[in-house]
Amino acid sequence: MNFTHDILIIGAGLAGLRAAVECVGQADVAVVSKVLPTRSHSGAAQGGITASLGNEEDDRWEWHLFDTVKGSDFFGDQDAIEIMVRDAPRVIYELEHMGVPFSRTSEGKIAQRNFGGHTRNFGEKPVKRACHAADRTGRVVLDTLHDQCLRHQIKFYPENYLLSLVFDGKRCAGAVTYDLPTGELYLFQAKAILLATGGCGRIYKTTSNGFASTGDGMSLAFRSGIPLEDMEFVQFHPTGLYPLGILVSEAARGEGGVLRNRLGERFMERYAPTVKELAARDVVSRAILTEVREGRGIGGMDYVHLDLTHLGEEKIEKRLWEIASFVRIYLGIDPVYDPIPVQPTCHYIMGGIPTDVDGRVLTDEKGSIAPGLYAAGECACVSIHGANRLGCNSLLDLLVFGRRSGLAMKRDILQVETPTLSNESLKRVDSKIRGLLNHQGREKCDSIRKGMQAAMMEYGSVFRDDEGLKKGIEEIRALKERYKDIGVSDQKEAFNYELMEAVELGHQLDLSEVILLSGLHRRESRGAHWREDFPQRADRYYLKHTFVFQTRKGLEVRYKPVKITRFQPEARIY
Ligand code: FUM
Repeated sequence: MNFTHDILIIGAGLAGLRAAVECVGQADVAVVSKVLPTRSHSGAAQGGITASLGNEEDDRWEWHLFDTVKGSDFFGDQDAIEIMVRDAPRVIYELEHMGVPFSRTSEGKIAQRNFGGHTRNFGEKPVKRACHAADRTGRVVLDTLHDQCLRHQIKFYPENYLLSLVFDGKRCAGAVTYDLPTGELYLFQAKAILLATGGCGRIYKTTSNGFASTGDGMSLAFRSGIPLEDMEFVQFHPTGLYPLGILVSEAARGEGGVLRNRLGERFMERYAPTVKELAARDVVSRAILTEVREGRGIGGMDYVHLDLTHLGEEKIEKRLWEIASFVRIYLGIDPVYDPIPVQPTCHYIMGGIPTDVDGRVLTDEKGSIAPGLYAAGECACVSIHGANRLGCNSLLDLLVFGRRSGLAMKRDILQVETPTLSNESLKRVDSKIRGLLNHQGREKCDSIRKGMQAAMMEYGSVFRDDEGLKKGIEEIRALKERYKDIGVSDQKEAFNYELMEAVELGHQLDLSEVILLSGLHRRESRGAHWREDFPQRADRYYLKHTFVFQTRKGLEVRYKPVKITRFQPEARIY
């Protein structure tokens, strides 16, 4: 089937929906989503969204800017970060007006709380900056934006998987998708296409990411000749529920929760004496794993305790209801009385498809634009988060740059004719899919996926080194060879999840290799990329963004300088 829209948005998380709302009334806009829209991964965000409203204590956007730059290990582009933090208060009031039920102070203002790395006066002490709706902030913002889209009658194509981007010459002019309920292929054509397809945390065994976070958009852009930027920077959130990896929001520490080792020590006092549990995530994750490596994990195992027992039942029920509820459900323990077992979990990909500050996709390190193609949210790299993202800056990024992409698309399409694509690309994808279904392969997705997730945990997670990264690349390449002989036993048309999992696995393997290769080339430690063989940050050599290209000769690595406007790199002490 063929469909034509002015603007096609792929992904129904906050970035995609915010962009859609921006274009309403000025363009015919449609949203394609691989899941039912309200199941998009943005809904899993718990703790909050940053803005220097100063509702609970004095705060300024300049402090938010500094914290984001410092959190990024002086690697985020400061011009882009400034755009985001200045826009943050407007974003919150806009959400409020759309109907987001934020938690409130006793005076009725939007409540704010502490989060890691949020400080007053350029690092002096913690500040309450995270606006929140208890501990289900992403859920309520996603539902509110979805309501707005329904109100404006935006066309949705749910359970519809992106299989290929279609180019007309250099211009991105369409996409081929797979409609899960029918098994039909769709050809979309549009004047502008926004990728808002999220991250790829599922390439790791332990992750807070939903099943849909397989990096399809990043990988398809990459296969179309777009580079991927800064993929070595993968964030491990310190407190994943052990052993499941589900996010236990940093809000738990923001509300006063403390981390303890098997000796009952509050060990963060040793690693970050000023802000302790509220240090940046990379710092806390390394601290937890150092405790584990040195034998101070609980019962000698690979987890520590997050202790909320001193907070009292009332506070836990009011501010951390969601966490308390799933800890009871999944582990059968009650955080009011028992400490919660936690371990670092893959949470967020700082890198992605390079874009300018208006979501336009870049085709190289010099800033050339891919006409017709835009990206926003976790699949994109603006770069705001640099080497490590601060908690609650993700929802802000989605909303600021989702909206800016919408603004840019509706402006840019005024100069563009509606494309008239032939069915050639649809036929090409169809023959690939038929090939996959008809191939009597001996390999199964499950076994290759397990191998990939194990290799990424072993060689590409919190601690890395030259030998491990090389081994990891070798293992992923061997898995890619095995993937060529993949067999899909389910032959039915409708709801063929096995087929889609096979497609997703191909994307995941490509991205795994890019992550490890980018890490291998960065011979320094910065933010979430910690090289045990190069434990220092090396600004002299590596204050530059990694760009990996797929070429005929294999992967090629190039670089682009980091943009520094106000804050020169300094030692990062918490
Ligand atoms: O800990 C959290 O609630 C996560 C927030 C985030 O990743 O921004």
